[in-house]
Amino acid sequence: MRKLTNILVTGGAGFIGCNFIRVLLTKTPDFKGRIINLDALTYAGNASSLADIEKEFGGSRYFFQHADITDRARVEEIFKRYDIDTVIHFAAESHVDRSITGPEAFIKTNVMGTFTLLDVARNYWTETRADGTKGIRNDVLFHHISTDEVYGSLGDTGFFTETTPYDPRSPYSASKASSDHLVFAYHHTYGLPVTLSNCSNNYGPYHFPEKLIPLMILNMLDGKSLPVYGDGKNIRDWLFVEDHNTAVWAIVNKGTSGEKYNIGGENEWTNIDLLQRLIDIVAAKAKLDPAAIRSTITYVKDRPGHDRRYAIDCSKLKKELGWKQSVTFDQGLERTVDWYLANPGWVANVKSGDYQKWVEHNYGKR
Ligand SMILES: NC(=O)c1ccc[n+]([C@@H]2O[C@H](COP(=O)([O-])OP(=O)(O)OC[C@H]3O[C@@H](n4cnc5c(N)ncnc54)[C@H](O)[C@@H]3O)[C@@H](O)[C@H]2O)c1
Repeated sequence: MRKLTNILVTGGAGFIGCNFIRVLLTKTPDFKGRIINLDALTYAGNASSLADIEKEFGGSRYFFQHADITDRARVEEIFKRYDIDTVIHFAAESHVDRSITGPEAFIKTNVMGTFTLLDVARNYWTETRADGTKGIRNDVLFHHISTDEVYGSLGDTGFFTETTPYDPRSPYSASKASSDHLVFAYHHTYGLPVTLSNCSNNYGPYHFPEKLIPLMILNMLDGKSLPVYGDGKNIRDWLFVEDHNTAVWAIVNKGTSGEKYNIGGENEWTNIDLLQRLIDIVAAKAKLDPAAIRSTITYVKDRPGHDRRYAIDCSKLKKELGWKQSVTFDQGLERTVDWYLANPGWVANVKSGDYQKWVEHNYGKR
């Protein structure tokens, strides 16, 4: 039986991690343990995203540790201090465009950081057994969060399955692919109990506004133009963030050690069709003229090496662990737009820093 008592969540101040922590502490009655959120608070991390959680659970079931996953001494100290028995590893440099302009940070965090966590976990969880031999405890788990981008790009048909060969094309996806291989290497070589998930594109509250959906929502609200890469026909599969997180929790509880699981929305959209749908929702909710918003769509030079289509086959997760998506795309988009309209303070906070400089560097002043 897995303990799941003292869970180290890395990257818990980021988009998916903060949603995961909130759901686990507020909507998961079967979880009675503690969460230790280890986050370096890079440009993408916001401690304020969990201010309500800190207030309600801080010091009892929720502990924030400002640390870098590449800092071995700090990671060791955190394992010891909180007697960590489970790692759920979200922390990463996560934005493909940034990996093209500055790949080094991706190699450091995604490859070296994952290695550091794995190695500290292996050491901390090694015990001496009754017969005097040493081995890794079997009540512990290292769950690694990864992406469907490790599989490369699809043509018009077909889906990524768990056996699709890896074919990463950007520095981001190559760094995530490396981290996936390290996770399985630690399982096969040292017997570390691991599970891994490869998920499609997430959307929802607390999403940093450099990513497509929040960028477009906020540009619409600010009356700015809507930049669309290339011909707008690249296809992504979209999943509401809470559905990603219920899948992660199902895998952590019931997934087989040494196995990987694809997570997806079964919800493919071209970027331009998604944008048209989003314009209707934002215009209706914010009482704006949809035609005026549509006139601001601007096709911009395509991202180098832009993968054409991702699509996920998540039938293994559905069949073996009984997971399914709970939110339709329209429901998820509406909840997301409502959240951005209700949280201008959070938006102003994240937009005040490095983000604005980055947008201007990549898209120019608007
Ligand atoms: N967003 C998606 O659509 C998506 C899809 C599939 C998989 N993923 C994966 O999910 C995970 C979380 O993605 P996200 O969108 O929440 O990312 P994010 O960029 O919003 O958050 C990443 C978090 O990690 C922290 N972090 C970065 N480097 C760190 C370091 N060296 N040490 C400690 N903390 C560090 C940041 O401060 C931030 O809080 C990533 O591993 C990503 O590859 C994301």
